[in-house]
Amino acid sequence: MWSPDLSAFQGPAYKSIAAAIGEGISSGVLKPGDKLPTHRALADQLGVTTGTITRGYAEAERQNLVQARVGSGTYIREPEANCPMFGITPLPNELEGQIDLSYSFALTLGQEQHLAEELANIAADPALMHRLLQYQPECGMRHHRQAGKHWLEYTGAKHIDEDRVLISNGGQHGFFTALLALCQRGDTILSDGLTYPGLINTARQLGLRLIGLDMDEQGSTPEALELACQRHQPRAIYLMPRLNNPTSRQMSRERVEALATICRKHRLHIIEDDVQGCLTDTEHTTFTNVAPDISILVSSCSKALVGGLRVGYIHPTEQTFEPIANALKSSCWMIAPLPTEVASRWITSERAGQIIEAQRNELEIRHQIVAEHLQDYRYESVSSAFNVWLHLPEQWRAAEFARRAAEVDILLKPAELFAAGQYPAPQAVRFCVGGELSRERLKSGLVRLVEILGEMPGGTEGLV
Ligand SMILES: Cc1ncc(COP(=O)(O)O)c(C=O)c1O
Repeated sequence: MWSPDLSAFQGPAYKSIAAAIGEGISSGVLKPGDKLPTHRALADQLGVTTGTITRGYAEAERQNLVQARVGSGTYIREPEANCPMFGITPLPNELEGQIDLSYSFALTLGQEQHLAEELANIAADPALMHRLLQYQPECGMRHHRQAGKHWLEYTGAKHIDEDRVLISNGGQHGFFTALLALCQRGDTILSDGLTYPGLINTARQLGLRLIGLDMDEQGSTPEALELACQRHQPRAIYLMPRLNNPTSRQMSRERVEALATICRKHRLHIIEDDVQGCLTDTEHTTFTNVAPDISILVSSCSKALVGGLRVGYIHPTEQTFEPIANALKSSCWMIAPLPTEVASRWITSERAGQIIEAQRNELEIRHQIVAEHLQDYRYESVSSAFNVWLHLPEQWRAAEFARRAAEVDILLKPAELFAAGQYPAPQAVRFCVGGELSRERLKSGLVRLVEILGEMPGGTEGLV
């Protein structure tokens, strides 16, 4: 058990405990992810009260050295948890030998050709080009909103009102705008315990308190939602029922209905993020289809078609349309018409269907490759997802595994990055099979991953 010598530090005992933790980290005695002794055990060891240990750990948390996880204990902070996920994230690394499995991107399957042809079509229409170069109505051009309705229906949504379709700069901008419109600094919002890091970042940015709900194999449980509503009076909940990022868990119709009933009872807005889900089975239940009066749908073309167009759609409820449309206007006035024109043409022609079919087919093949390599390990995924959620064998902690993978030039993301609020991150990592990665590189990445899954941390060959 870690047992510091407090006589080496000056000042009140609780400050000495925080200083000793800092010293332990710098000297390498305490490593990221290590669990600190319980308050009672350390108090007995050092001959101080448990209150002193509580204050010491709280001081260490204030200094960002440790992280308290409800019901689990206090842990040395994993450096990755401090990394900003957004802003200056590097683009997929093209260094020779490095295999970047850390980004959930659409597969590159000839979208350039579709773009070239569509730009040529647009260039052949001077009147259209003239219109695209002008300021537009804030909610977007009529035919772009019609294409938005088409997209939402094509990807499985029912009850779509064209007059309520708003265009956004992608899905991230879509739910950011919805939260901006519906919440005020200090409000509480809920999400699955493991959720999209873009939401975690947005909550921080907007000064919202984010609480991650307990999850089972389908995602957030009704019991956890009911309890959180009673305790915290949240304003909104953000969910991905068709495909949770990072775990790929999917909610059954019963689960969606049970959660929607609780949301209605507590007057909670549901923000349904379908950015990842729109490649999956279009018959799969969504909140928008089950509870359209309280569900705000956020979708985008980023995963199903391509990310660089930055075209997304928001379908607010009747009551939330005005505030969300206003927030959209304040955030960017209007969405760039040219990429929206390209997306609209793809959506209303056969191009979107062709790209989606190609993505689905290739993803199936890639998931077979994953299954062949990871047959001895537990992981979660579905064949229409870019993400694979890999549960690590006992000897590995997630951050340490991600660091070890980086040493062998494989980039992936540890669970901590997806943990909402104080939700305890499991020992799992997310890796992705999409983007520019070829099948061959995916295979060699998996071979390297399997090798290190069998290692003991610290480099000793061992288990499995
Ligand atoms: C669940 C989820 N929502 C939103 C986004 C962001 O989408 P966009 O690129 O359209 O902004 C992502 C991107 O990975 C995502 O996984």
